[in-house]
Amino acid sequence: MAASYESLFGGILAEVEGEMRAARQEQREVAPLMWQMIDHHFGWNAEDAAQRARIAGKRVRPVLMALVAQAIAGSYRHVLPAAAALEFLHNFTLIHDDVMDRSLERRHRPTVWSIWGSDQAINAGDGLYALANLTLTRLLRLDVPPARIVRAAAVLSQACLWTAEGQVLDMTFPQREDVTVAEYLTMITHKTATLIEAAAQMGALLSTDDEAVVQAYGQFARALGIAFQVRDDYLGIWGDEAITGKSATGDIREKKKSYPVLFAWERAGDSDRETLRRIYAQPTLSDQDVQQVVRILERTGAPAETERVADDYYQAALRHLDATGSANAAQTQLRQLASFLVRRAY
Ligand code: IPE
Ligand code: IPE
Ligand code: MG
Ligand code: MG
Repeated sequence: MAASYESLFGGILAEVEGEMRAARQEQREVAPLMWQMIDHHFGWNAEDAAQRARIAGKRVRPVLMALVAQAIAGSYRHVLPAAAALEFLHNFTLIHDDVMDRSLERRHRPTVWSIWGSDQAINAGDGLYALANLTLTRLLRLDVPPARIVRAAAVLSQACLWTAEGQVLDMTFPQREDVTVAEYLTMITHKTATLIEAAAQMGALLSTDDEAVVQAYGQFARALGIAFQVRDDYLGIWGDEAITGKSATGDIREKKKSYPVLFAWERAGDSDRETLRRIYAQPTLSDQDVQQVVRILERTGAPAETERVADDYYQAALRHLDATGSANAAQTQLRQLASFLVRRAY
């Protein structure tokens, strides 16, 4: 049996958690009203440790950053503040994403907006964005050269800008019937892959001045990030809600142009395509509509095709990883992480 994610990366996860909590504690006097929402989101107010782990999220971006740093420099301690900063930034995007997608559940819990309302969820997200930037300055205490810190900050902000652009694009697709696979790939590259790419680039640029190495790890992570989002699309329809901790009907209900839906629109026979057109023309979809769409998706072979596309990008990612020319234990762990990301059930 394959080793579990926690057993593979538990050491990194514990150190990232420690860094995130330390950064949060430093700001405890500021914004007590905001901490209520943020602590809920991270499960920091949960009773027992097992429950907290389920709510924390996978933390794949910090793990990726740490492993890249370790593969290059033999250690990851010097990137921990950057890893924590990136995780805060990712969570800012999730809190706002749940407002946009009207998602009621994330990580087995009610979303921030579903408890405190959209206005306050926007504030909580903004607070996390600020916390991300503050956390990055903790790199100064680790004697990381300032020029590298400035570059890391630029990569992080640039990725955030791309993420926002991807989210803008994502929100334009539900109203459109003519979204192409190429447009979809642009959208997911922006909204998801750029932040994952930034994780690898930051791990690299904080560890070496060799630009070719930074670019090579970036390319690996960019392809992996695309595979990761295609897998997310799969889980957004065929995932087990008890395992993912989020809805398996929301993507269709919100008329998301996720990969399985795009594929089905292209491949469905005349009668199924007409049904899709009729269903998507309505202002809102009922439970029965959602079930009917899923049946059509399955008739077109969308589940297997979606897995195939994720696998193609995963294979491309592995080729980029090989091209880094590195061969050590951290590099092996990067392969294990990549494999988990495309086969994950949550
Ligand atoms: C969810 O990201 C949003 C996407 C970019 C697909 P994750 O799957 O990394 O979410 P958590 O942090 O583990 O909950
Ligand atoms: C992922 O959005 C991208 C961001 C959050 C920036 P999704 O809407 O596809 O992700 P989930 O499924 O809600 O986690
Ligand atoms: Mg969403
Ligand atoms: Mg979304």
